[in-house]
Amino acid sequence: MDPILDVKNIYTYFYTESGIVEALDGVSFDVMPREPVGIVGESGCGKTVTAKSALRILDKNGRTISGEIIYKGVDLLKLPDMQMRRIRGKEIAMIFQDPMTSLNPIFRIEDQMTEVISLHRKCGKKEAKEIAIEMLDQVGIPDAEKRIIDYPHQFSGGMRQRILIARALSLQPSLLIADEPTTALDVTIQAQVLEIIKEMQKKLGLAMMLITHNLGVVAEITKRVHIFYGGRVVESGLTEDIFLNPKHPYTYALFESIPSLEVDKTRLETIPGMVPRLINPPKGCRFHPRCKFATEVCSRIRPPEIEFGRGRRVACHHFEELNLYIGKDVLREKTVQRDQVKEEV
Ligand SMILES: Nc1ncnc2c1ncn2[C@@H]1O[C@H](COP(=O)(O)OP(=O)(O)OP(=O)(O)O)[C@@H](O)[C@H]1O
Ligand code: SF4
Ligand SMILES: [Mg+2]
Repeated sequence: MDPILDVKNIYTYFYTESGIVEALDGVSFDVMPREPVGIVGESGCGKTVTAKSALRILDKNGRTISGEIIYKGVDLLKLPDMQMRRIRGKEIAMIFQDPMTSLNPIFRIEDQMTEVISLHRKCGKKEAKEIAIEMLDQVGIPDAEKRIIDYPHQFSGGMRQRILIARALSLQPSLLIADEPTTALDVTIQAQVLEIIKEMQKKLGLAMMLITHNLGVVAEITKRVHIFYGGRVVESGLTEDIFLNPKHPYTYALFESIPSLEVDKTRLETIPGMVPRLINPPKGCRFHPRCKFATEVCSRIRPPEIEFGRGRRVACHHFEELNLYIGKDVLREKTVQRDQVKEEV
């Protein structure tokens, strides 16, 4: 089976007064049809830029200068603008972090949904409204038939995010990109919205790119995961394989940084050292200034991506000697603890 999305060696740069930001530096990964895939990494590692590169909605100063983004066999980077507009929304839908910025406060939900539905599904207003109500109902908006005439401010944050999910899914996309879809919401609401996303993904057989910081969410929803660091993919594989036996020192450090409840903490622990600046990033392996296993070669030569069984891919000079391993029980305990800490923050 071919991937629905095959991102091949893309380089996306931003041109700023201080210099060129090398945001994506040869990123490759794929998403199979109907597959929920996780995209994970610290802030600034290129997750959103990857999604925006695929949809060609980068900020004005950004450009994907090379590589291919193959969607259903077609390179999106080569498509004329007109065809790309059809892909956006109808084929590939994206849900952003903050539901308020994606809804226009001065229009009723009905107008904001039916307009896109009738445009993309080529149907009349009446049918578009029926589809909209049906979708709102499916994502758990109570009294959808009545509430569709309300304005965004009349809904809570969680309900607004459900509306955006309904709007995205009403166009029957094949691929859903959800970029930190719950971080702007209360913790209790986060779980409900994630449950909706998980349910809808299964029910509609969607391929999904779920961008998140939360390893608990990754474990629960995704089948495969791509770990990003400093504008590169450092490790890819089946979620269960990576959770039990991370092979890249950065992935290992991510799990290590899940906090323990025994120590009194008000915020999540992070991996020691700074996330790299992507103007003049570190040479060789971009993780070397923070890696406790780094050797001389790491600061000089970019590690190649090695592929082996079950779709596993790792970019580290020393992963074979290191043989990093996290025991199942230890990890489960740590993931639970992390979620508890999040709720208490
Ligand atoms: N318009 C821009 N101009 C300059 N640099 C940019 C621009 N947009 C993004 N970047 C840079 O590109 C890099 C990747 O950013 P991106 O938004 O993809 O991070 P992210 O992984 O989504 O982080 P977060 O988890 O915080 O959302 C960052 O270094 C960011 O500063
Ligand atoms: S290549 Fe070297 S610096 Fe990079 S992760 Fe592997 S050991 Fe660490
Ligand atoms: Mg982001």
